[in-house]
Amino acid sequence: MVLDERDPRPLRPLTASLLPMDVQVVEHPLVKARLSTLRDARTDNATFRVALRELTLMLIYEATRDAPVCSSPLHTPIARTTGYRLANPPVLVPVLRAGLGMADAAHTMMPESRMGFVGVARDETTYRPMPYMASLPESLVGCPVYVLDPMLATGGSMVHTIGVLVERGATDVTAVCVLAAPEGIDQLAASGLPARVVTASIDERLNDSAFIVPGLGDAGDRQFGEV
Ligand code: PRP
Repeated sequence: MVLDERDPRPLRPLTASLLPMDVQVVEHPLVKARLSTLRDARTDNATFRVALRELTLMLIYEATRDAPVCSSPLHTPIARTTGYRLANPPVLVPVLRAGLGMADAAHTMMPESRMGFVGVARDETTYRPMPYMASLPESLVGCPVYVLDPMLATGGSMVHTIGVLVERGATDVTAVCVLAAPEGIDQLAASGLPARVVTASIDERLNDSAFIVPGLGDAGDRQFGEV
């Protein structure tokens, strides 16, 4: 439950059950705190990068909650017991540029994972995705894939990225996003692509410039500076 200091009525979070696809909003006090750092316009680039890394650790923790594991016997210094590891090491796909700030944290959580890269920039006039690179395993058949991008705005970049993954055989794709706009979720759902979304927040809407409101600004610029 959240109380706004200026408005004591509880904010009602939009929940996955209202949405036409599998969307998980990670509700946790530490997630809210890091997200607030990211949203704050006074946060400098270095602090933003740290908060994004820490938030990604938490989002990945939740995104992998149901990942299958396999077991094997091991010895502690004291006794025999059972050890576990991920049954199916995933492929991580940060979307350049902004997703780079999530890559190291995701890799830290799943050191056995492989990493591929997709480069796509949004044309800020048409808001359409402009792909410029893909470096991915030839086949993604049978691989869980985690796409890392802080922002799901119109959804164009994510639909493009997941489309590329599906062309390579991916059927189990999780989009890990800091923020999602309802418009982006709708576009991803309408695409029919096999994907779920894990996010720290579903914000209100897009503005006339297709920026997420209230959002956090441009996640690439806020990490790396304007280009
Ligand atoms: C941002 C963001 C997403 C995309 C989201 O990247 O990181 O990739 O826009 O917008 P969409 O859902 O409307 O497609 P941007 O194009 O600013 O590139 P950058 O990461 O290089 O800054």
